[in-house]
Amino acid sequence: QDAHAAEMERTFIAIKPDGVQRGLISEIVARFERKGFKLVAIKLVVPSKDFAQKHYHDLKERPFFNGLCDFLSSGPVLAMVWEGEGVIKYGRKLIGATDPQKSEPGTIRGDLAVVVGRNIIHGSDGPETAKDEIKLWFKPEELNTCTINSEKWVY
Ligand code: PPS
Repeated sequence: QDAHAAEMERTFIAIKPDGVQRGLISEIVARFERKGFKLVAIKLVVPSKDFAQKHYHDLKERPFFNGLCDFLSSGPVLAMVWEGEGVIKYGRKLIGATDPQKSEPGTIRGDLAVVVGRNIIHGSDGPETAKDEIKLWFKPEELNTCTINSEKWVY
């Protein structure tokens, strides 16, 4: 089982300041848990503007870049790493389309957000980004390598 876990896919998921302020942490975490994905790391941090610019570096030419970085650094962000088969792609499916007006009902943004500038959650868009974002937000020792759903914690 450990060998399997070692190869398991991981993604970076962040609840942005709007999601945290609106009290949506448990609602969002529950959706990933219920799906069957495993929480590998979690922490509440207020990113600096400089850090936000690093996180969104590939968007620096976009007109909304500055506003988006100000927004991400405006309050606590719940940074997480989730693990599971297909978690990068399926995590994005759980999250829904970038613009909440276009997200399907049943998705996190579809159910809980209204506009793109306050879309409450971020998820890595591919394997390379996932690797880079996990590395940016977490130290290796902050990543849980044991099985947290193990029976030994229940019995
Ligand atoms: S795009 O337009 O294809 O680049 O969109 P996408 O790659 O999905 O979005 C990248 C991140 O930019 C955010 N975004 C915006 N923020 C504020 N205003 C506007 N207009 C806007 N458009 C896109 C979007 O939410 C993505 O951020 P994350 O945190 O990854 O969701």
